[in-house]
Amino acid sequence: MIKKCLFPAAGYGTRFLPATKATPKEMLPVLTKPLIQYGVEEAIDAGCETMAIVTGRGKRAIEDHFDISYELEHQIKGTNKEHYLTEIREVIENCTFSYTRQTKMKGLGHAILTGQTLIGNEPFAVLLADDLCDSKAQGVLKQMVKLFEKYQCCIVAIEEVPKEDTNKYGVIAGKQIEDGIYMIDNMVEKPEPQDAPSNLAIIGRYILTPDIFEIIENTKPGKGGEIQITDALMTQAKRGMVLGFKFDGVRFDCGSIDGFVKATNHFYKKI
Ligand code: G1P
Repeated sequence: MIKKCLFPAAGYGTRFLPATKATPKEMLPVLTKPLIQYGVEEAIDAGCETMAIVTGRGKRAIEDHFDISYELEHQIKGTNKEHYLTEIREVIENCTFSYTRQTKMKGLGHAILTGQTLIGNEPFAVLLADDLCDSKAQGVLKQMVKLFEKYQCCIVAIEEVPKEDTNKYGVIAGKQIEDGIYMIDNMVEKPEPQDAPSNLAIIGRYILTPDIFEIIENTKPGKGGEIQITDALMTQAKRGMVLGFKFDGVRFDCGSIDGFVKATNHFYKKI
């Protein structure tokens, strides 16, 4: 039922300069695979067929990555190096990619609204590639799609974070209606620890219903002067229902050096 996954990928990646000067941050590799490919594989595993990528200036390497490189194919075909291309070939065969550009950086809410043209009028997933997730059984997005089938409403993935870190995340509060599932009654973008309604932080996986676009259009700039998806979802929660979902698995904040190194070690141990 969730067939499209939106990837906001227009950010500058300043924390990884100079690496991100000419390379999109989404293309930084954990081992040999770019961050965004992990995300796309998670979305395919969840049943998504269209990857809707909101890019920006200097991000063309993403489009080239998810396309066939005839020269490379020609060079490598029939050699003992061909297996290096197995995974990316599978990705390219199993979904389609569509792109649009966000010309101004006005926040995650604005990035999602920019993607409306690629999504249309259907529920969709949002995946932030720098939150790299791994799980033993089902992928995080797949777990969320299952939950959507039951509740048919917006869902955000959440995890407990140390209280002193609440100012890095959207933070929710709500009533637990099932084990690890919260009906959200409050959500705040990057609150200081003393103002945080809990230590349940939103991580970069969302299932959204298409009415969110109209809500974002009417959402005023919030934290940092940017249009925040957290604020739009709070409006949604007041109107109807938004769920917070404690997923099964681990998450690495690959937008930080510490998280990136931890992710690299985690995936290296799995080889
Ligand atoms: C964004 C969202 C925030 C969320 C986070 C997850 O923040 O605005 O609510 O908790 O992603 O990674 P960003 O990390 O883009 O500043």
